[in-house]
Amino acid sequence: MSAYRVRSLDRSEVDSWLDFVHGVFAEAKGARAPPRSYFERHIENDPGAIDSISENVIVAVDEQNRFIGTLRLFRRRLYLNDSVTSAGGIGEVCVRSDHRRRGVATLLLEHAVERLSNAGVELSFLHTSTSESIYRSMGWVSVPQRFVELIRQPAHDHRGHIEQLHLESDDDIHRCSMMYKDFCYRFDGCVVRDQPEYWRKWVQAESGGVAWSDPNLTPVPLRTINKEAYAVLQSKGDAIRVREFFVLENGMKRAGLYLDAFLSKLVAPEQHTVSVILAEPLLSVIGGSPQIVNTFTDTGQMYRRLGDNSSEKHLLPREERHVFWATDAF
Ligand SMILES: CC(C)(COP(=O)(O)OP(=O)(O)OC[C@H]1O[C@@H](n2cnc3c(N)ncnc32)[C@H](O)[C@@H]1OP(=O)(O)O)[C@@H](O)C(=O)NCCC(=O)NCCS
Repeated sequence: MSAYRVRSLDRSEVDSWLDFVHGVFAEAKGARAPPRSYFERHIENDPGAIDSISENVIVAVDEQNRFIGTLRLFRRRLYLNDSVTSAGGIGEVCVRSDHRRRGVATLLLEHAVERLSNAGVELSFLHTSTSESIYRSMGWVSVPQRFVELIRQPAHDHRGHIEQLHLESDDDIHRCSMMYKDFCYRFDGCVVRDQPEYWRKWVQAESGGVAWSDPNLTPVPLRTINKEAYAVLQSKGDAIRVREFFVLENGMKRAGLYLDAFLSKLVAPEQHTVSVILAEPLLSVIGGSPQIVNTFTDTGQMYRRLGDNSSEKHLLPREERHVFWATDAF
């Protein structure tokens, strides 16, 4: 272990760091690995990420100062238990294949926790589909996210009431941001998006505003022309995945209709039913008698409290209210 040294990334190393991260994931995941542009997008579109790169990227290097492993911290705040909690997301955790199972990731994670705790961050969170055990052994707990697959009837008659959402104008961003805030207080785990830059760059890019490597998976951002509801949808095989969906308080009684009108934009006019994948807590919003054909649970979203905050404030999301929009994933 002593051969490894943990340090911050220097700004001049960003390109070689991107090559490193992409290379490790490409080797580990083959065709399912994200392209280099995915990691680049995260840095470019995370407001302030480049300026704080040395605070937020930790690398483990060998005696020749070569990258062996790394992770990146994503500073966020989350709506949790009717308030706002500061949070540090941990992403891009990877270690060179010939140095694994020697504790490098553990070492990096210890440094990450120390940095976040020293900065007064209350909670750390991450998503993993393959490595729950490392995180669990270090104190992260999984809070499952429940999803349902529903059969819906696209509201073709209302297709004309839906238009593409562009997140460029200050007015659109302001409206989205206000609506988003009111809506997300209903749930536990949504990222706070009160910075216009986050909408303009991150949300825009992750909603299809930049080229996606798989055009079939490119998300489509939509809104009702009366600006009462917004959604980001993604075709996934025969189903449509709701990456996010929010409705102004005034429009809540029409939420189910709005969802069906959004769906009409992604399917052919002659298609009368479509399968939709939705975060389960949204069922109470869309109302009606949903025709559920399947349920899924994702246990990969994990949280760890930091510092001495075990007292009065309940900091972990409640499972039945747990919503983390796909747009905010990293
Ligand atoms: C996941 C990943 C980052 C782990 O890196 P790592 O440096 O091998 O992790 P560690 O060595 O700290 O821990 C891995 C395991 O080795 C064990 N270990 C740690 N030190 C060890 C040692 N000296 N001898 C034997 N085992 C050891 C740990 O207990 C852990 O066991 P577990 O999987 O049963 O919990 C690495 O496998 C990787 O880069 N995978 C590809 C990229 C990826 O999928 N990243 C996403 C992560 S969400």
